[in-house]
Amino acid sequence: MGRMLISRDTARYAEIDAAKVRSGRFLTRRGDWLAEPVLEFLRTCGATEFVDPFAGEGHLFTQLAAAGFDLPTVGYDIAPEGAQVANDSLRSIPAHPTAAIVTNPPYLARHSASRKGVLRGLRRYYTAGGHADLYQVAIRRALDSAPCVIAIVPETFLHANVLRERLTRAVVIGAQVFDDTTTPVCVACFGPDPRDLADIDVFLDDHRLGSMADLDALRRVAYGDADIRFNAATGRIALQAVDGVTPGLRIGFLPRSKRDYDAAGIKHSSRLVTFLDVPGVKSSAQVARLCELANDRIATLRTGIGELALSPFKGNDNTGARRRRLDYRQARAVLSQARLDLALEDD
Ligand SMILES: C[S@@+](CC[C@H](N)C(=O)[O-])C[C@H]1O[C@@H](n2cnc3c(N)ncnc32)[C@H](O)[C@@H]1O
Repeated sequence: MGRMLISRDTARYAEIDAAKVRSGRFLTRRGDWLAEPVLEFLRTCGATEFVDPFAGEGHLFTQLAAAGFDLPTVGYDIAPEGAQVANDSLRSIPAHPTAAIVTNPPYLARHSASRKGVLRGLRRYYTAGGHADLYQVAIRRALDSAPCVIAIVPETFLHANVLRERLTRAVVIGAQVFDDTTTPVCVACFGPDPRDLADIDVFLDDHRLGSMADLDALRRVAYGDADIRFNAATGRIALQAVDGVTPGLRIGFLPRSKRDYDAAGIKHSSRLVTFLDVPGVKSSAQVARLCELANDRIATLRTGIGELALSPFKGNDNTGARRRRLDYRQARAVLSQARLDLALEDD
């Protein structure tokens, strides 16, 4: 066990299981990842065997068999169990020219490995291909080994802009998939041939929300007006920048006076709640209306694929819905549009 500093202000540390973090040994004990679009891809990919290069205890094979797939399996692991074969699959995976690789590889961003003090021994994997996270190294190796790859990876893969050449569909899994980490995931399905971004389908569980091109367009939000000041100690607008643990507390704007707890108790530089000013919006009535207009725009953004343009934040709320975060660039764009809406109303 090691320790990692999580707050300099309060000198709080978290216990780190260095061996578990280094090997990413978070096992997939339930089959929630087998959403219908994943099953459909598995049925049509033409594989003659399943290979898991990061097989752990072989749970994915058990879940595939339970879902009715009856193909031979090959499992590799750096610490093999039973019939598995020892292999460093972050270095290379033996060729399997007719297989579907089905895997949940280790996840570990290089900066996290460094922060958690486990970079030694892993550095070579990141530097070999210039990848920012071990799951990306794993996808690269898998694509080099087999024509089809089905990988359970962090949902942030949707925003990473990497390894998309052969991506066919990405399926965000709404449920929390693991017992021992809240990491939100998607299942990335790759085929043998390159695709245009407009032909990559993006699903939330069983529902197709749009294409990767649609998602990219929503993520490339305009910069918004530079005069809107965040982290303003006396700002008259409060931004709840993340969804709360209870569903009542959602991302949104509120006049500061309506923030339901003492605003003085909130650090104005908090990442979760911030105060801001929108120049030109003078009366309290205008502030209130601006907040309503901005919240309408957020509600519209959050229907359909726009929901996935917001980054996931710390897993799911207590009803099981994914919590998300509105970053300052997105917030600035929403407020700028709302200020225009307000000006049109006032004309
Ligand atoms: C996230 S777990 C997934 C296990 C299994 N696929 C599942 O979903 O239950 C990742 C697995 O990769 C293995 N692993 C870590 N580094 C590896 C490497 N370089 N080569 C092969 N396996 C590795 C770990 O031992 C662990 O069993």
